[in-house]
Amino acid sequence: MRTKAILITGANGEVGHGLIRYLAEQGDLPPVVVLDIRGLDDSIRPYVYETKVGDILDTSLLDTLINEYEIEMVFHLAALLSTHSEFNPEVAHRVNVQGTVNLLHMATAQSRLRGKAVKFIFPSSIAVYGLPDLATKAAAGAVTEDLYTTPTTMYGCNKLYCEHLGRYYSFHYQQLAATDDIHVDFRAVRFPGLISALTMPTGGTSDYAPEMLHAAAAGKPYACFVREDTRIPFMVMPDAIKALLNLAEAPAEQLTRRIYNVTSFSPTAAELRDLTLSAFSNAQITFTPHQKRQAIVDSWPGDVDDSAARQDWGWWPDYDLRRAFDEYLIPQIASKYQK
Ligand code: SER
Repeated sequence: MRTKAILITGANGEVGHGLIRYLAEQGDLPPVVVLDIRGLDDSIRPYVYETKVGDILDTSLLDTLINEYEIEMVFHLAALLSTHSEFNPEVAHRVNVQGTVNLLHMATAQSRLRGKAVKFIFPSSIAVYGLPDLATKAAAGAVTEDLYTTPTTMYGCNKLYCEHLGRYYSFHYQQLAATDDIHVDFRAVRFPGLISALTMPTGGTSDYAPEMLHAAAAGKPYACFVREDTRIPFMVMPDAIKALLNLAEAPAEQLTRRIYNVTSFSPTAAELRDLTLSAFSNAQITFTPHQKRQAIVDSWPGDVDDSAARQDWGWWPDYDLRRAFDEYLIPQIASKYQK
């Protein structure tokens, strides 16, 4: 019999790091198998059952995975973020879209083999939104899932399309086939910008928040690439992990949709600076907006409406802005850089 497993792709990214540590603390789950093109950092390798070093575009590697394991759940985290993607949009499309199709196809094959839907948990993003100008952004307030979904970045286009693919593979895959077969159980959260005390993101456009904080703790000057009045939603990593797991655990009959906004707080970049300065009083934070990255952040909403997640699966963030800084970010970042 094949070993039951949870698969995490892109596991060496910062959501992967947080998720692996959390899953390792839960006693009663199947072992975690990870797939990442860079392998896995030494610090978290002991927490997983097996590390496959490889590419999500390698379909024979994905076939091997379902020959070796009975995969019950997939956290498909592998992606190129928004800033990276703008430097090579076609590569981003291959990784973000074709990679997701490959994983959805593998999960469908696995669902049929085991006679039960594989849960497919997908982090989407506020990058799926595209607000045309700052006046519309200010007037829009907290945006619901189905409004303003006209992204300006390749990453946003990729994530939005993958949301549709997930819905297609869950409910309509091969709809003209003679028999009704088993489908995957796709669920997505649209993350705001994420801030981890332990790791740094690579290649995102919401990165100014974690970069500012980590630079301050490390005693380095930081020139923020957006204006002081820039506002988008953010969340700290423990709440991001909680959102993925709570959505994964929710009974299917309670879900009125498959793609959910989640958020915690919406500070301006100046507010982030002030909170950073209150903890690291010598921090040197200046503002040197990068016109094009600024335009991307300006096209993202200032807030998102996550009431569907709250109603359907009891979503609630543990950290508001104050608690995020006082109880999570500042103590853990300070201790990371003291070491
Ligand atoms: N953090 C992502 C990015 O900046 C947005 O979700 O690309």
